[in-house]
Amino acid sequence: MPMAEQINPAPRLLMGPGPINADPRVLRAMSAQLLGQFDPQFRQYMAESTELYRGVFQTKNRWTLLIDGTARSGIEAALASLIEPGDRVLVPVFGRFGHLKVEIARRCGAEVVAIETEWGSVFAAEVLERELKKHRPKLVAISHGDTSTTMAQPLAELGKLCRAHDALLYVDATATLGGMDLPVDAWQLDVVSAGLQKCLAGPSGSAPLTLNERAEKRIVRRRHIEQGLKKAGEQDGDGPVIRSNYFDLAMIMDYWSEKALNHHTEATTMLYAARECARILLQEGLPQACARHAAASKALCAGLQAMGLALFGDQKHKMANVTGVHIPAGVDGEKARRALLEDFNIEIGTSFGPLHGKIWRIGTMGYNARKDAVLMTLAALEAVLSQQQHRLPRGAAVDAALAAYRAL
Ligand SMILES: Cc1ncc(COP(=O)(O)O)c(C=O)c1O
Repeated sequence: MPMAEQINPAPRLLMGPGPINADPRVLRAMSAQLLGQFDPQFRQYMAESTELYRGVFQTKNRWTLLIDGTARSGIEAALASLIEPGDRVLVPVFGRFGHLKVEIARRCGAEVVAIETEWGSVFAAEVLERELKKHRPKLVAISHGDTSTTMAQPLAELGKLCRAHDALLYVDATATLGGMDLPVDAWQLDVVSAGLQKCLAGPSGSAPLTLNERAEKRIVRRRHIEQGLKKAGEQDGDGPVIRSNYFDLAMIMDYWSEKALNHHTEATTMLYAARECARILLQEGLPQACARHAAASKALCAGLQAMGLALFGDQKHKMANVTGVHIPAGVDGEKARRALLEDFNIEIGTSFGPLHGKIWRIGTMGYNARKDAVLMTLAALEAVLSQQQHRLPRGAAVDAALAAYRAL
């Protein structure tokens, strides 16, 4: 077998629903040499990561840490640690990632109540209140933005509502953290997790997570120390053991605390990446980053519409960082995506389930929520559609996007 070549990826512009191109500063941080996870310098990086993510999540939560794994590791850690077998869990599903939470909650032994709304829409506050009253769940698990439908669920009132009905609230903010406002404390969200590969401008592989005292109480009573680490006289919690070892938040909290209790071997490079993502974001400023995402989305939408394309879903609730657009009649969606990749080095997204073959999803997030990235994508898409004999006003898309930027 011939020797494999050195890794040398094509210079793609990743304009799908994630991953996006990582900020070069994040890639540089990842090339730093490894440290032992109990090295004082590394513990300092961990403490700094906690402090930085408190800023990103807009929280004072003591427990603000990183789970090693892609975004679903954060979801799984939250659900496995919060759900006790037999607990009723309400999952409002408005896209694929709602179904993912149903699936994980079931594996945790929950009695899951899933409610669904049509893809392209979100839930009205009255519906969520009615379902909370009806089912009295111990936990509500919901996405903030669901990339599969490009919709964002309004969450400002849900935390208060959950408290009134004695339920904990878990929010999957994988697709929105850093691109849309998510003030965790002000909105009374009990546990929130995310991933790096979208608005945080990093690679996937680390899941920032924050939890408040309400959630801590539920988790700590399930704390069990692994045999071999336990000191004489140390007591376990009286709750049922968390059924995952890797995603046991009680153990992960012990590892992140001053106790520095051994758990997994740290994914050192991913912590460097996550720390740099947060540092860059806070250096820019959260409001500025959200405004940058909103501007890119507005310009992209203006360009797509000027091309004569129709946007997907309830535009009042569209995420600021991913746009769904109907594939025009007569155009082969996959052929167009292939041409974008092969001729222009640009990747846009296909879609899942009921939307498969009907819409493309275009991300303008993180490092790629930039004017030049928006303009290049529009110009390339226009050329590709023309090649497929789709009639459109040439030049209109880029002009409309530029006008949208000028109007800011
Ligand atoms: C809302 C949401 N949750 C979870 C995930 C899963 O993330 P990962 O593939 O990093 O595990 C995604 C990925 O697109 C997402 O958009």
